[in-house]
Amino acid sequence: MVSFSLVIFCITLLINPISCYIPETRIGHNGVVIHERLLIFGGWKNSSNLTKTYTSSEIFYLNLTNQFDIVNQQWDLVLEGNLPLYEYFSTALVSTLDDDIIYLIGGYMINITTGNFDYSNLIYTYNYSSTTWTSIKVNNAITREEISGVIDDKGIIYIYGGNNVTNSSFIEYQGKLYNDMQIFNVSSTIWTKLNIFHNLPLPCSAYTANLLTNGIIVYLGGFESDSENYTTANLTLSSMTTLKLFDTKKSEWSQMNVTGGDTIDPRVYHSSVLTLDGNIILFGGVGKYYQPISTKIALLNINKNIYEWSIPSSSSPPLLFGHSANLYGNYMIVTFGVNMDTLTMNSQIYLFDVSQRIWVTTYTPPPISNASNEPKRSSSLALGLGLGLGLGIGGFVLIGSIIIFCKRNKTKPPTKPVLEIAGSTPSDSN
Ligand SMILES: *[C@@H]1O[C@H](CO)[C@@H](O)[C@H](O)[C@H]1NC(C)=O
Ligand SMILES: *[C@@H]1O[C@H](CO)[C@@H](O)[C@H](O)[C@H]1NC(C)=O
Ligand SMILES: *[C@@H]1O[C@H](CO)[C@@H](O)[C@H](O)[C@H]1NC(C)=O
Ligand SMILES: *[C@@H]1O[C@H](CO)[C@@H](O)[C@H](O)[C@H]1NC(C)=O
Ligand SMILES: *[C@@H]1O[C@H](CO)[C@@H](O)[C@H](O)[C@H]1NC(C)=O
Ligand SMILES: *[C@@H]1O[C@H](CO)[C@@H](O)[C@H](O)[C@H]1NC(C)=O
Ligand SMILES: *[C@@H]1O[C@H](CO)[C@@H](O)[C@H](O)[C@H]1NC(C)=O
Ligand SMILES: *[C@@H]1O[C@H](CO)[C@@H](O)[C@H](O)[C@H]1NC(C)=O
Ligand SMILES: *[C@@H]1O[C@H](CO)[C@@H](O)[C@H](O)[C@H]1NC(C)=O
Ligand SMILES: *[C@@H]1O[C@H](CO)[C@@H](O)[C@H](O)[C@H]1NC(C)=O
Ligand SMILES: *[C@@H]1O[C@H](CO)[C@@H](O)[C@H](O)[C@H]1NC(C)=O
Ligand SMILES: *[C@@H]1O[C@H](CO)[C@@H](O)[C@H](O)[C@H]1NC(C)=O
Repeated sequence: MVSFSLVIFCITLLINPISCYIPETRIGHNGVVIHERLLIFGGWKNSSNLTKTYTSSEIFYLNLTNQFDIVNQQWDLVLEGNLPLYEYFSTALVSTLDDDIIYLIGGYMINITTGNFDYSNLIYTYNYSSTTWTSIKVNNAITREEISGVIDDKGIIYIYGGNNVTNSSFIEYQGKLYNDMQIFNVSSTIWTKLNIFHNLPLPCSAYTANLLTNGIIVYLGGFESDSENYTTANLTLSSMTTLKLFDTKKSEWSQMNVTGGDTIDPRVYHSSVLTLDGNIILFGGVGKYYQPISTKIALLNINKNIYEWSIPSSSSPPLLFGHSANLYGNYMIVTFGVNMDTLTMNSQIYLFDVSQRIWVTTYTPPPISNASNEPKRSSSLALGLGLGLGLGIGGFVLIGSIIIFCKRNKTKPPTKPVLEIAGSTPSDSN
């Protein structure tokens, strides 16, 4: 997966006393911008070895004060910064009250020692200065898989719904989606569920969330189901025309029907970032059963009273899903995920220049300023993995099945859910 030129690049770097770390590709990881670093951790690796751990605990970063290009970049490992668990499809946020602290909440959590799912600690903090992870006990905390949180300037984290996958069989899968709004006050460490009865949205997972400066959270994409217990067949994709909005100032849900503009395919496992000029950039994702979608990138203009979608006319990189996207300086920085065009894990970085609205190949750091105006918080992504994941060897089976399914899908419309194929019992009636 690692490109030859990257290896050469790294070898040349060895001449200098600089570390050069070549990370493994992954999906459902966390990407967080903290102190001019893009820190990556967690996620789920593809492995042909079913007995080998399919996720890992190392954390590594890109130094965002240095120039890099999409093929040659220097990753550094955070020595002794390892996660105390394996996790994927969780949410991770930099505290707005202490820019040294990351909160890691929910997702699929696996105990490194036992290799089993372990939800005994739901919330972890990472201290950037000491590079240490600490689990914090919070009464009433409820966390789920495939969630995306936001944090406001008072240090309140908002988490909507999410998934509780109860049957992790690959063949069929079951669980429950939620539509509650849970909030976590990071300074008091008090967790509460908001009691809201009006305009409740459908239960949803695998969406993305962006908090606007006016206190509105915009939710995009995801799976929905109003069945008490869902199975694959019950899941539908959230509309990209009727958007779910949550007003954090009033604790109220509302809907907005986006009118005019371009039509955007519904999706899951996508990313979204909020730009300073009032656009949400939606990128990547897939449809139900891992079907390719046609609009890879779209902008939601939130400066208008009724938001409006548009599709930038620049050429796109491949369709990715399960990637992360972070805004820093003038760029949206996209890492890892699955490349739907080649059906392989993506090792390349993609860079979208948000002011010119084009994909570019070189990252130029923002001019050194007096720190405070940097866009510190990036909405990190929130990819969910609803489709039958959850077992220890899920990673392999899922990714294998994507390949199988998508290859078939190129010639035939899907007649069966991918997970049936995924059972690797190709009783293939096609
Ligand atoms: C798979 O991984 C396990 C654990 O790391 C290792 O012991 C085993 O040799 C590996 N098998 C193959 C075929 O690589
Ligand atoms: C990033 O690079 C700059 C310049 O090369 C260096 O001064 C700084 O210490 C680096 N920061 C990190 C966090 O590695
Ligand atoms: C992992 O499981 C072991 C054995 O049950 C337990 O002692 C340990 O605390 C668990 N680790 C975490 C991070 O929960
Ligand atoms: C983070 O670690 C630094 C250095 O050890 C320490 O001074 C600071 O108090 C820690 N922050 C928190 C919130 O624990
Ligand atoms: C999922 O639901 C089961 C049973 O309702 C519960 O025991 C478990 O803690 C839940 N898991 C998560 C991650 O919410
Ligand atoms: C999990 O799903 C499979 C396939 O649908 C089903 O055969 C099995 O009974 C389910 N297990 C549970 C505990 O519901
Ligand atoms: C969060 O907790 C702090 C410390 O207890 C408190 O001062 C603050 O009012 C709380 N914020 C909200 C919105 O409840
Ligand atoms: C969910 O799917 C199952 C199986 O296809 C179906 O029997 C059930 O009616 C569906 N429930 C809803 C609420 O759509
Ligand atoms: C949903 O699942 C829970 C436990 O998994 C079970 O107690 C409940 O009866 C189920 N509800 C329905 C409508 O099947
Ligand atoms: C949005 O449109 C749907 C039908 O397309 C309609 O049912 C709904 O009432 C509209 N919502 C709002 C807030 O206008
Ligand atoms: C995952 O690994 C399998 C086996 O090594 C390989 O065939 C497949 O192409 C990989 N999938 C991706 C998305 O890289
Ligand atoms: C940046 O900080 C330096 C000294 O710390 C100060 O002289 C300068 O005016 C500041 N520039 C801006 C744009 O705030």
